[in-house]
Formats: sequence, structure tokens, C-alpha cells
Amino acid sequence: MTSQAALKQANTASLDALYGLVQSDLRRVDDLILGRVREEIPLIHGVAQHIIASGGKRIRPALLLISAQLCGYTGERHIRLAGAVEFIHTATLLHDDVVDESRLRRGLATANATFGNKASILVGDFLLGQAFQLMVGDGSLKSLKILSDAAAIIARGELLQMMTEGEPATAIATYLEVISAKTAVLFSAACELGAVVAGTDARETPLREFGSHIGMAFQLIDDALDYAANQVKLGKTVGDDFREGKITLPVILAYGDGNPEEKAFWQRTLGSREQEPNDLATAQRCLQKHDAIARTIALAGEYCHKARQSLSGFAAGPARAAMLDIVDFCAARSY
Ligand code: IPE
Ligand code: IPE
Ligand code: MG
Ligand code: MG
Repeated sequence: MTSQAALKQANTASLDALYGLVQSDLRRVDDLILGRVREEIPLIHGVAQHIIASGGKRIRPALLLISAQLCGYTGERHIRLAGAVEFIHTATLLHDDVVDESRLRRGLATANATFGNKASILVGDFLLGQAFQLMVGDGSLKSLKILSDAAAIIARGELLQMMTEGEPATAIATYLEVISAKTAVLFSAACELGAVVAGTDARETPLREFGSHIGMAFQLIDDALDYAANQVKLGKTVGDDFREGKITLPVILAYGDGNPEEKAFWQRTLGSREQEPNDLATAQRCLQKHDAIARTIALAGEYCHKARQSLSGFAAGPARAAMLDIVDFCAARSY
């Protein structure tokens, strides 16, 4: 199967049921976020507005909101915490695009391409500050710990990833550690917080695990999409990971199974970062030859299977059904 076909196979899954259930809460989260970046310093307002108003799936705050709903929560704390989660995510995107030298995000020029690296880094810090203010505003040491741990682990994951740059012989276990830290931990925190605000302690572990599994799948698919997506639909530049020498599972698999000539290709392009115009296409052909995109998607599918199992103790109903849809989306998303 071609890489594109493998990604297209099941991506009819949608987040519509989820958005339907959390719509009014999510609007309040967005209002909260936009209200907090209405700053008198024009650059803060400009950069923050640029990235926040350009869209994004809001999947992490939506996960917190739906997890709270699943646990029967009827209070107000989830809005603020969902805002904190999206602020952490947005801050990491601003920083990540500087580190990755990315030019396209959410279908628009990245903040670093538009306003420069310095402004992106500083506004990223400002947004992290907003997240911490919201977390403290929640007043619970438990939620503060979950989210501050997540923020620290994400930074650690990005650094660990930087250390594997240009090294296609990186162990799969190391790659999994990277994606767990940089991506799965925030998904996991968002889901766990749904149980925390509801005070349903026994629900914390299954929801934390659910979030972790779909977060792993989410990043695995992201890494497949980086080589095989429709760029317009994705809203990010296809081939960014290749140009940056980033080591992701598709590359690890193709390198591991590669003949000496292919290994030399990956070493030149990713190791020495000596790239010529046709190299991305050659890389894509090589991934296809070794079924590396389909195998990456298959591993995402295994995490999704575990995610479904994590929900087995919850009673059937609209919230649980929407969460199962999220799993399907994470297994086969195209944007
Ligand atoms: C992008 O996350 C960063 C990754 C973890 C791959 P999303 O794909 O959730 O980005 P937005 O918020 O929808 O733009
Ligand atoms: C996600 O990794 C980074 C974090 C969320 C910390 P990527 O670098 O793959 O994300 P994209 O592809 O730029 O969105
Ligand atoms: Mg990136
Ligand atoms: Mg990516």
C-alpha cells in the first residue's frame, strides 16, 4: 500500500460528536484564552493573536472537558484548567517552531516566520506564565502538580529529541520516550484532570492512561504525516522533519531495514544534513519500500487499542462514545 493510501484508509473518523458535546464549554475556554492575551504590549497581542486565532483543533482542552463530563462533573473548574492546557500547548508550539525552523502552522506562516524568533520565544514564555496563573487560580495542589510536571516533562522531551537529531540508528525505545514526554504527557494530564475536578479518584488512573495512549498514537501519526500528508490539509510543511534531521519512527524503521546504500543516504541527508532538492522524494520512496509509514500507523493502532481498553470500565453514553471517536481520529487523522 502506498504511504498516502495507508493514511487515507480510515481517516473518515471525526471529532464532530466531541465538539458537539463540549461546544459551549470550549467557547468559554477560547474566550478566556483570548481575553488573557489582550495585552497593551502590541507584540504580545500580535504574536499570541496570530497563533491562537489561526485555529488549531483544541483537542487537548476538549479532552479535559469531555473527561470531566464522563466523570459527571457539573462545576466550573474545568474551564480554567482547559485554558491552562491549551496555553501550555500553544507555548510549546511557538518554541517548537523556532527550534524546528518551521514556516507553516495551522495553514499560516508561523509566528517565527512572521514576527521573528525572539518574539516567538518571549511570547511563548508569556503564554506559559498565563498557564501557571490559571493553574494557581484553580487553587488545587493536585492539578498544579499534574500540569507543572507535564510542562517540565515536555521541555525534557524536546531536549531528548534534540540529542537524537541526525542519528538514524536511534533505538525505538528512545524515540518512544521522546514522544511520550513531548506529546503524550499533556494528553494524559488533560484527561486525568477531568477526573480530578470531578473528585472521582478511581477514574484518575484509567483516564491518565487513556490520554497517554492516544497521545502516543497522535504523535506517531504526526510523524507519518510529516512524510505523507496532503500539505494543505495538514496546514504544516511536509518534509520538515527530514530537513531538520529529526529522527522519527518511519526513519528508524527504514534505516534499520536499509541496505548499505540506503543507510549511507540517511547518514548523508540526516546525519550530515547534506541535502539536495530530490532527496525528500528519495526518502519518501525509501520509506515506502520498507512499509515504514504503514508500520508507524500500525503501531499507532496498537496504542489506540489500549486506549479503548482504558475506557472499558466507564458506562456507555454520549461522552464515552465521543471519546471512542477521538481514538479513531487519532489512529487515522490527516490534519
Ligand atoms: C501539534 O499538535 C503538535 C503535536 C503534538 C504533533 P496539534 O496537531 O494538536 O496542533 P493544533 O493545535 O491542532 O494546531
Ligand atoms: C511536537 O512535535 C512538539 C511538541 C508539541 C512539543 P513536532 O515538532 O512533530 O510537532 P509539529 O509537527 O511541529 O506540529
Ligand atoms: Mg515541530
Ligand atoms: Mg511533526
